[in-house]
Amino acid sequence: MRKPFLAGNWKMYKTGTEAVEFIKAFVPLLGSLSDREAALGVPFTAIAQAAEAAQGTGILIGSQNIYFEKEGAFTGEISAGMVKAAGASFVILGHSERRQFFGDTDLWVSKKLAAAVAMDLIPVVCVGETLAQREAGDAFKVISGQLKNSLAGLTPDAAVKLIIAYEPVWAIGTGKTASAAEAQEVHEHIRKELSSLLGDKVAEATRILYGGSVKPDNVASLLSQKDIDGALVGGAALKPDSFAQIVKFGG
Ligand code: 13P
Repeated sequence: MRKPFLAGNWKMYKTGTEAVEFIKAFVPLLGSLSDREAALGVPFTAIAQAAEAAQGTGILIGSQNIYFEKEGAFTGEISAGMVKAAGASFVILGHSERRQFFGDTDLWVSKKLAAAVAMDLIPVVCVGETLAQREAGDAFKVISGQLKNSLAGLTPDAAVKLIIAYEPVWAIGTGKTASAAEAQEVHEHIRKELSSLLGDKVAEATRILYGGSVKPDNVASLLSQKDIDGALVGGAALKPDSFAQIVKFGG
């Protein structure tokens, strides 16, 4: 059984102090986390405070990016080891905003993935098509390419903690969600691709999250789909009560 993974992606929102305030308000709203995992991808500058505030709660704290080198003259960059030392246990890689605004490519995602695995961070690798690609009938092809190239070099043994997030670019921050059936179709395709890239065992065990305008009122129907194993949530993860409702879906 794949344990549902409900992750917030705070993007460029919240200071360390605000992260601590969020967690203090969020924890009492949560039920038991025994059958699901809750996670928050926070800005680099909030990782340490968030990780301290989350200690003993079961909530995982992660970063939204890393650079793939261990250290060196890379002004402005942050390594996997640095986020790990600050308290991160997972990292979001290849988010469409990084691909769109900061030039992250599949090749870079694959290098960052190797760096994350080497530091034992849980990698959350994002894929997804744009509206133009979907309308051209290319969604599956685009996603297959992103998976093949972003996961290049990953061995089945190194993929034990791998998480994939399917985020259709046209559904991010737009209020437009893929219908549960539309999302399931793509998730099933992703699992098939994982099977051919990394084998059936990895494909069966890997959690595939859906992201794009996930809200308290659509999370349960998305997660009722066979191949949807969690959510990556932007806007609705910025408020403790809405993210708590999402984490408690179905309860
Ligand atoms: P929204 O939930 O705000 O649409 O953002 C989705 C997202 O990009 C999560 O990574």
